Amino acid sequence: MPLGSPRRHFRVTDSTNQRARELAREGAPHGTVVTAEEQTAGRGRQGRSWVAPRGQALLCSYVVRPLAEHNELMPLAVPLAVCEAAELLGAPSCGVKWPNDVWVGDRKLAGVLIEARPGEDWAVIGVGLNVSVEPAELPLELRDRAVSIGGDATPGGALAALNGALEDWLKATREAVLTGFRERDALAGRPVRWDGGFGVAAGVDGDGGLVVSLASGESVSLRAGEVHLSV
Ligand code: BTN
Repeated sequence: MPLGSPRRHFRVTDSTNQRARELAREGAPHGTVVTAEEQTAGRGRQGRSWVAPRGQALLCSYVVRPLAEHNELMPLAVPLAVCEAAELLGAPSCGVKWPNDVWVGDRKLAGVLIEARPGEDWAVIGVGLNVSVEPAELPLELRDRAVSIGGDATPGGALAALNGALEDWLKATREAVLTGFRERDALAGRPVRWDGGFGVAAGVDGDGGLVVSLASGESVSLRAGEVHLSV
């Protein structure tokens, strides 16, 4: 089954990730996608919420199964697919902020939330991609941090482009994903901080961890969590 089929579309739902998780538990096939014009409880990473004005963003969640060893780098592969899809629709050159935010310049174009459960053979890949978001319709604190594809891009066009790009990137080898990520690494060489310290981002290691060079001359690899630009 190609990615993006079958499709369940909601005018409004709480969270497409939540709907897709339910479908996955009920045995939905690989490639199933849930889309919505509007979410009332969109979920982001680190327990945050995800806000998008109705009809102005692609809100979608894919069921991927079964999981295989080559899916280990899925968190890095998915944003690469989002970058390609967005650029196909006319977005300026996109970068990835580790692990999977998609940026244009230093503004966020898209977010990715991958959810899986230990012992289950599936994962849900949720993508929120700003297509034509009116800044005035975003909460004040997001207005100067978000960006959209713009032009005449539509959520439907973005979904079609993402289906194709994701199909390719989920099959990519580890080497291809790591190379693709390194070419789009938005943090490389920049000062970053996280809840355990600060340093200079120095790319990703072979397992997809973020390498940070410390002032001491040592380096650490971050496996999970969130980093922020220091300036
Ligand atoms: C993040 O950057 O924090 C991740 C945001 C992921 C948002 C998308 S919107 C579609 C899907 N459904 C959700 O509830 N979340 C993801």
